[in-house]
Amino acid sequence: MSVSTVFNLWRPLDADVIANPYPFYKQLQKEHPVYHAQTGEWIISRYADIKNILGDKIRFKAGNRLQWMKHATSYAKGKGLDYSNIPKTLQSFVLFKNPPQHTEYRKWIHRHWKEHPFVPGQISGIIEQLLNNAILSGFDFVSAIAKPLPLIAISNILGIPLKDSPQLKSWSYDVIKVMDLYLKVSDLQRINVAASNLLQYFTEIAKHPEVLDSNGIIYKLISENTLELTDEQLASAFIFLFIAGQETSAAFLSTMMYHLGIDKELFNDIASGQASLNASVNELFRFDPPVQLLGRINTELVEFNGLQILPESTFTLCIGAGNRDPEIYENPEKIILDRPQETSLAFGYGIHRCLGESMALDLAKSTLSYISSHYREIKISNNLKFEWEKNISIRRLKSLEVSLKK
Ligand code: HEM
Repeated sequence: MSVSTVFNLWRPLDADVIANPYPFYKQLQKEHPVYHAQTGEWIISRYADIKNILGDKIRFKAGNRLQWMKHATSYAKGKGLDYSNIPKTLQSFVLFKNPPQHTEYRKWIHRHWKEHPFVPGQISGIIEQLLNNAILSGFDFVSAIAKPLPLIAISNILGIPLKDSPQLKSWSYDVIKVMDLYLKVSDLQRINVAASNLLQYFTEIAKHPEVLDSNGIIYKLISENTLELTDEQLASAFIFLFIAGQETSAAFLSTMMYHLGIDKELFNDIASGQASLNASVNELFRFDPPVQLLGRINTELVEFNGLQILPESTFTLCIGAGNRDPEIYENPEKIILDRPQETSLAFGYGIHRCLGESMALDLAKSTLSYISSHYREIKISNNLKFEWEKNISIRRLKSLEVSLKK
């Protein structure tokens, strides 16, 4: 079938696709690996194409969400609606920067990030405390562990007072929605309110860093403001550092428990030491990655799969599809804990590759290590009814009722 005869194949918001996007990706990858969606963007689903795009900082640029938000905000302004806090909040997200600015931002953050002394042992302590507070005979893993664990760990690294983090978390869950592809007016309204609150909080922080833990990264970034950012730009940069790892990590921890809860053999292999923690976590990140879609814009004419694509087109890269590409992974639909790994795309690739990857891996490995050494069974009690958030960029369970058996 030629591309012009296939319409409306792109249906990421359909309920069956939200629940399980992988059969949909498989069809797309097999029949239309480079698909011009009815929404205007190009959908890319092959591993090699995604890696080429993410690795090409000349012909592809990041920042399409910021660009889109600026358009949406100025359109809304013409209708008397004010969403101006959204682009203000996104203005200094390192994720949306391109070289040479991106290189400067990344250096500035990375210098302090890599020196931070947060260790996996601390994570185990937090997990123990959170599990002690949960009723082990039946609790919601998402709200009891998956959300608070990254919140506490990230607040600690950034040096944010823990008393402020629950409120910041709730705003950040609203703001991260900005990454989703298709937003409704009600989403924009909610995002704008949360963005305004976060901006206000972090601008105050930029003005008064003395309220922060001086060992935290934000304090150091303010002390060494080599980029000479204004308070509002600093606030925006910090907002991204705060939100980047919250929903992503919460999503992965829940998805990991879900897979280990429904396939007992996997959990037994990890608990008995037959499968290493490292390999198991990497494989689960490949199999069901939290970040499902990334975006890029081409700066010049490019050709994919024999199709010429005009400059300034938007590309949506399906990470979840690339991670199950049969050209790269044998038997990709199966979780093989000791699979010889071709690095998956779960943390991206190229100059924007995730800065928090090792932290995200530590959170997952520590959780798995703690649970597999203290409990012999994970029982899922959702009656096999699982509800996923209606997000298409980040795939996350709404809740996961589990019992842990000693
Ligand atoms: C399960 C957890 C996580 C996943 C799956 C994940 C995934 C990703 C992906 C796919 C990208 C690349 C985006 C792109 O190329 O457009 C990225 C970038 C980034 N991530 Fe993560 N992430 C996670 C956790 C974290 C954590 C815990 C932090 C820090 C607290 C973090 C900080 C960042 C930053 C700063 C970037 C932007 C890097 C740049 O633009 O140079 N992430 N992440």
